Amino acid sequence: MAAPRELKITPIRNGTVIDHIGNGLSLEVLRIIGVGDLDKDSTVSVALHVRSQKMGWKDIVKVENMELSPRKVNAIALIAPTATISIIRDYKVREKRPVDLPEHIVGVARCPNPNCITNRGEPVESEFEVARRRPVVLRCVYCERQMDDFLAHLI
Ligand SMILES: Nc1ncnc2c1ncn2[C@@H]1O[C@H](COP(=O)(O)OP(=O)(O)OP(=O)(O)O)[C@@H](O)[C@H]1O
Ligand SMILES: [Mg+2]
Ligand SMILES: [Zn+2]
Repeated sequence: MAAPRELKITPIRNGTVIDHIGNGLSLEVLRIIGVGDLDKDSTVSVALHVRSQKMGWKDIVKVENMELSPRKVNAIALIAPTATISIIRDYKVREKRPVDLPEHIVGVARCPNPNCITNRGEPVESEFEVARRRPVVLRCVYCERQMDDFLAHLI
């Protein structure tokens, strides 16, 4: 007898689903979301190491009563470029889209160059442009330093 299709996470009425996160990266996604800021009645479900047709293995994060700011979506796109974001309203998927990196990424990651103007206590927000897309490499618009280890530099 075939195994029944398992339901691993309880459905949510309203909120956000971040699916197709690279295996093991959901804890970083939780950090980006800032789970501490959520209202106390919101359930957060995390599934690590879930079998996926498309990806082999993936992680999933489901957060009740929250929609992501563009800045958070950009941070997720940097560390989990395969992720899709679905908005759930009244238990239904109202919108589903892949994360997408814009040409300019502002205020999401620190420049690795300690002498960069953005690291010297001036009121200048970090800003990178995409130098390469697959895999992603960013270039600081102020000092031109390139960066590909985003996890270590997320703000
Ligand atoms: N009410 C709900 N509560 C929690 N998660 C939901 C709810 N409805 C849909 N989802 C999740 O939202 C995502 C998108 O839903 P959809 O039905 O489009 O998934 P799907 O058919 O598996 O598509 P795909 O995996 O190709 O994106 C999936 O991760 C699904 O598990
Ligand atoms: Mg699916
Ligand atoms: Zn710089």
